[in-house]
Amino acid sequence: MNNIIIAIDGPAGAGKSTISKLISKKMGINYIDTGAMYRAITLKCICSNIDVKDEKSVIEICKNSDVDFRDNSIYLDGINVDGKIRTNEVSSNVSYVAKIKEVREILVKKQREIGLKSSVILDGRDVGTHIFPDTKNKFYLNASAEMRGKRRYKELIERGEHVSLNEVIKDVICRDEIDSNREFAPLVKADDAVEIDSTNMSIDEVVECIISKVKS
Ligand code: CDP
Repeated sequence: MNNIIIAIDGPAGAGKSTISKLISKKMGINYIDTGAMYRAITLKCICSNIDVKDEKSVIEICKNSDVDFRDNSIYLDGINVDGKIRTNEVSSNVSYVAKIKEVREILVKKQREIGLKSSVILDGRDVGTHIFPDTKNKFYLNASAEMRGKRRYKELIERGEHVSLNEVIKDVICRDEIDSNREFAPLVKADDAVEIDSTNMSIDEVVECIISKVKS
């Protein structure tokens, strides 16, 4: 039997990772959070005092990093960085790292390698358009910018960060703008992706909606 590849793309804070984790559990398939890999490289740049707009240095960092998943956790050079990659500081820098073509090539190669091993759900920005363009299962998860900002704000407050709702909504919109306008593999809905607006849907409703549409 062929492996199933489910691609979940969409803008920041649309709920992609929450939904993808639940679907992976329900269907018993692997989950790859492609954004976590860009976040891990961003974290390393910040910790190494590298300006994320200094492309040459960021590429060097990326070439010399080991980013991997083990049991649905993200490891950077052998260390679990699940918590450290979710800070507001990483979020506001990550899109500059993710727009660098060479960084994307290195990480996409890895994403394809992991993705081809078994049935998998991947979430990100370019899964259905670039990483696995031939998959039959493409979804574009969206929600209003205000709702996406509110969701992200709640997460950050729960983690003990001091942020304002307005600042978080602005950050989310700014990140979407950089992600959608970059030259290489920008955030765009694939023509054959099913679009789901989750603004007024519960998590379970979105999960069920996607599972009901998955083709094996
Ligand atoms: O969870 P959230 O939607 O906030 O973001 P994420 O999925 O963790 O991705 C963080 C950032 O990584 C995005 O804003 C993009 O700049 C970049 N990214 C990307 O360029 N391509 C991907 N496949 C996944 C993430």
